[in-house]
Amino acid sequence: MRLRSCFLLLAAPVLLAQTRIEYSEQKKVWLLHTDSSAYALGVNPRGELETLYWGGPVWRIADIAGATGGRGQSSFDPAQSNIREEFPGWGGTRYLEPSVKITRANGQRELVLHYSAHAITGDDLKIVMKDLSDDIFVTLNYHVYGAEGIIRKSAVLLNKSKQEIHVESMQSGTWSVPHGEGYRLSYVTGRWAAESQLTREAIHTGTKVLESRKGHTSHNFNPWFAIDDGSASEETGRVWFGALGWSGNWRIAVEQTPYSQVRVTGGLNTFDFAQPLKPGESLESPPFYGGYAADGFGGMSRRMHRFELTDILPHGLQSRLRPVLYNSWEATTFAVDEPGQRALAEKAAKLGVELFVMDDGWFGKRNNDKAGLGDWTVNPQKFPNGLEPLAKYVNSLGMDFGLWVEPEMINPDSDLYRAHPDWAMHSGDRPRSELRNQLVLNMARNDVKEYIFTVLDKLATQYPIRYFKWDMNRPFAEPGWENVAEPKELWIRYTKNVYEIMDRLRAKHPQLEIESCSGGGGRIDLGILQRVDEVWTSDNTEAFDRLGIQYGFSQIYAPKIMSAWVTDVPNMNGRSTPLKYRFLVAMQGALGVGSNLNKFSAADEKLATEMIAAYKSIRPTVQEGNLYRLLSPQQGEVTANEYVARDGGQAVLFAFLHSQQYQRPAPAIRLAGLDARATYRVQILGLMGTMDYSGAYLMENGITVRLSGDYDSSALILTRL
Ligand code: GLA
Repeated sequence: MRLRSCFLLLAAPVLLAQTRIEYSEQKKVWLLHTDSSAYALGVNPRGELETLYWGGPVWRIADIAGATGGRGQSSFDPAQSNIREEFPGWGGTRYLEPSVKITRANGQRELVLHYSAHAITGDDLKIVMKDLSDDIFVTLNYHVYGAEGIIRKSAVLLNKSKQEIHVESMQSGTWSVPHGEGYRLSYVTGRWAAESQLTREAIHTGTKVLESRKGHTSHNFNPWFAIDDGSASEETGRVWFGALGWSGNWRIAVEQTPYSQVRVTGGLNTFDFAQPLKPGESLESPPFYGGYAADGFGGMSRRMHRFELTDILPHGLQSRLRPVLYNSWEATTFAVDEPGQRALAEKAAKLGVELFVMDDGWFGKRNNDKAGLGDWTVNPQKFPNGLEPLAKYVNSLGMDFGLWVEPEMINPDSDLYRAHPDWAMHSGDRPRSELRNQLVLNMARNDVKEYIFTVLDKLATQYPIRYFKWDMNRPFAEPGWENVAEPKELWIRYTKNVYEIMDRLRAKHPQLEIESCSGGGGRIDLGILQRVDEVWTSDNTEAFDRLGIQYGFSQIYAPKIMSAWVTDVPNMNGRSTPLKYRFLVAMQGALGVGSNLNKFSAADEKLATEMIAAYKSIRPTVQEGNLYRLLSPQQGEVTANEYVARDGGQAVLFAFLHSQQYQRPAPAIRLAGLDARATYRVQILGLMGTMDYSGAYLMENGITVRLSGDYDSSALILTRL
């Protein structure tokens, strides 16, 4: 593998101007620049790659000291324990989390990677590392998203030796924050119907593992971390952060070494992982994206959001604003039929809904969750004339038509299972564990993948389907795979095949949009988001609970991606909040309605129509603007979020009161992200009249938002004059 010398590339001034990557041949140092951060790495005298800098912008490569290789402190504390290795193979005197670990057919296990070559092309840097004895290579790929402030790392392991190797760990890379202690880790944890609970804790010596062993991204942790200097707040302080683009088993190990170094290694989960590589074969890690913010957790989130909107979502900045959606699930559950859906569609259209999605129950013998998954043919009792009349009717009402599918699953009570019992994931003739009465299809098999692609392609071809809600309602169990050399390959092949189906569907049906759902927020990550347009945030649509879930979600993911519905009360946990409160909570993302519209009163219809119209007037600001989390639902009685349009012309403040104590005064909420010198016209949503204030006053003094009683809420729309 010979790469063009970087020196030649850098010698051409035109190319130099085009790249955000500098190289010093003399020091063997690379310096990667984004608008708001810099990252440096270099080769030490032993040929190892060291992280040298990660933080705010620095412009002088001469400032970056070359990699020294460190020095051992005792026979128990070798040099490699003290340096920030960029991508250590497991071998030599290494005891920290490795980035890659292998076993050769002959039993030898060490992999000691030394710099071999590199190339800079535009904003891409490739560094090739080679084992000190064998022709086993790792190519590290870096891409700089300059304006967004993000750097992508990924790695490709290539076996050019003469023997097969078994990969036991393949990570995407290691991020090391500046040497020292006193850092805090932020991550989200949760469970079904309580995803994205933001957690912040001190980092101590030892390793904390965030991971999924469930086959999908999972509700329990999300593949994201943020490390702050110990005192960062929403708008101040230093935050280093990263997120993986992988929807299968993933792992992020946050390690504080006894040598006061915090390092984060992430990639494919090592649990039950094995990947054989014959001579000539290679394995690529998922991408690991990282960034730095000097402006606190808010600055971190705004960078992530901008990055997702620009570089991750399938059509990037060209993707349309998310339409207002209606979904029938909570209204009808499995009891869908043509007359019932037509009636709901008529009502939804009158409210201003733009996308009508029929959820579970339309196919096979699907009258409850005990049967039908796998049989993706229209149920003739419920839809005697197929789906076409309904879909066309929905279109005639001016709405797009969307359909729920759960392609990766199979009920034992289905024609598909009766025909192909071996397609369900299982371990020989051992018992198969059902969850929600269903088994997981072994999507790692190419015949299963082709079958599912054909089924979905047929639906998308036959009917005017604009949108699939793609669900996945249980994790893996008994992930066996018979008659293959390495059954453990199932874990990654499954995810790759799901990606492939989505990619092929989108290529063949360019108008098609996909929502990623996995019993709510079980599959949300930067891998699936390259293939879907939005995600189902949580099956918990209770508005007060949602404030907390959306708070955690917003740390990482943009409001445009966050599907949020208004549903009926009392909701799943028995709480009843006013319809206005439910709307304002849901209007902070991609607004949807999931209520039983047949039960809406005239007053409900009026309010819903007004709210949807108002939402459309602030939609670009909410979905694509800058988010400022002013008051957290984790503290105090009032939650407040502000969205500022990209061009600064509009801002929207949402405020929610949990429950007021007698005579407690209404809070003054200090806004952010405005132009201090500009004047803003402020209107309270739903009220006549306006007031004018300067940006300076709104940010310094704040504005008093009248909230009283329980579950009161308000939205203020600010227009820059
Ligand atoms: C999952 C989804 C719900 C709904 C049901 C249908 O729970 O998260 O929104 O689609 O499946 O069975």
